[in-house]
Amino acid sequence: MDKFVVRGGNPLLGTIKVSGAKNSALPCMAAAILTEDEVILENIPQVRDIETERKLLTSMGAEVELGYGRAQHRTHIKCAVLSDPVAKYEIVKTMRASSLVLGPLIARTGMARVAMPGGCAIGGRPIDLHIKGLEAMGATITQEHGYLEARATRLKAARILFDKITVTGTEDLLMAATLAEGESIFENCAREPEVTDLAALLNAMGAKIEGAGTSTIRVQGVSKLHGARHRINPDRIEAGTFLIAGAITGGDLNVDSCEPQHLGALIHKLEQCGVRIDVGKDHIRVRSGGELKAADISTEEYPGFPTDMQAQFMALATQAEGTSIVTENIFENRFMHVQELARMGANITINGRTATVRGKTPLQSAAVMCSDLRASASLVLAALVADGETILDRVYHLDRGYEHFEEKLRGVGAQIRRMGDVFGKK
Ligand code: EPU
Repeated sequence: MDKFVVRGGNPLLGTIKVSGAKNSALPCMAAAILTEDEVILENIPQVRDIETERKLLTSMGAEVELGYGRAQHRTHIKCAVLSDPVAKYEIVKTMRASSLVLGPLIARTGMARVAMPGGCAIGGRPIDLHIKGLEAMGATITQEHGYLEARATRLKAARILFDKITVTGTEDLLMAATLAEGESIFENCAREPEVTDLAALLNAMGAKIEGAGTSTIRVQGVSKLHGARHRINPDRIEAGTFLIAGAITGGDLNVDSCEPQHLGALIHKLEQCGVRIDVGKDHIRVRSGGELKAADISTEEYPGFPTDMQAQFMALATQAEGTSIVTENIFENRFMHVQELARMGANITINGRTATVRGKTPLQSAAVMCSDLRASASLVLAALVADGETILDRVYHLDRGYEHFEEKLRGVGAQIRRMGDVFGKK
């Protein structure tokens, strides 16, 4: 298992480039199921979850060709024949977003067998709202031996009010509705930029979707979709992680190829912390003299403060003067990084969904364990300002969603390197 060794103390200086958004790329790849034609996706990040989705699609009979050389971020997907519309447990267990194939599979083939995703480090991750929505559209869904089996002749449009805002739930039903009979109306939808990105691809494929990015989305079903070419949005969470890396190290960092409009809540908080931010068209410059002030955050659905930035913000809060209150409203168990930050010297107490961070505490190097994708990023950020060499174990969590993370950080002055398992397997 790979580890990172990080030596803290260097301010990050220079320009760092943001990749395409993993959480846009995953639903967009699933959308290719909806047509026999080729779908070409550009700006696909080279991360483990994308490779997992490639495996998932090929296991169903799709042809997926990843670009190489200069075209390495372009992916061609052709689902001419879907001989085996099954999402096997071996694949689903490593990536919960696999449930995104449920809606498109039923819509295209009239049947789907998808392994039930289990819980994960950050919480239960149920998909009851995907199931309820598809049932309202006429699918019959049964569960046996850990698999959901869904059948429908042709899905029918429905009016659905989501009980709770769900990102992949909105995406799953949106895809299903493109080929359903009649006009679907979805209310209380997720407004995340990833939903808007998916809707743009679907419309380019011939779908009739209005209102993506707002809480009410209307979809006029069509009988067939065709191929399209689409460029994936920049990854707002990767960009946000780099903004905090610049701020926490007292650096001067230009975060390039991002979409500043998607980062409003984080930029606002960083300014409250005393960080200087200059916003350009597709880049953000972050500067900090090292003097940070505490600020409270409370995670919410977009456009609120993203849960996917909570762990990274907490690392920053350990270096801010004063008390920061961090409230996690989206997932019930997303404080796994706290124990590890505490082992590095942070002063954090948890009470239910709230963590109180008292700063500023000097951080010391330690051996720490990554528990999920964003927790891993938080520990790297802490290690960048810790005294000495921190060793981060289980960085495969980080590899699921950050492209060439250590190389990008090294390019702006971080001392970070990857190590294989030094002791080998017994
Ligand atoms: N929920 C239900 N029932 C459902 C679906 C969701 O109760 O059927 C609950 C969840 O348990 C959670 C809340 O609703 O408490 C929101 O979950 P949501 O469905 O929005 O999360 P998701 O779609 O599974 C996506 C991202 C996550 C990100 C969340 C919240 C993808 C592939 N994943 O997950 O990203 O944290 O939205 O913004 O888009 C990450 O990238 O590190 C990551 C975890």
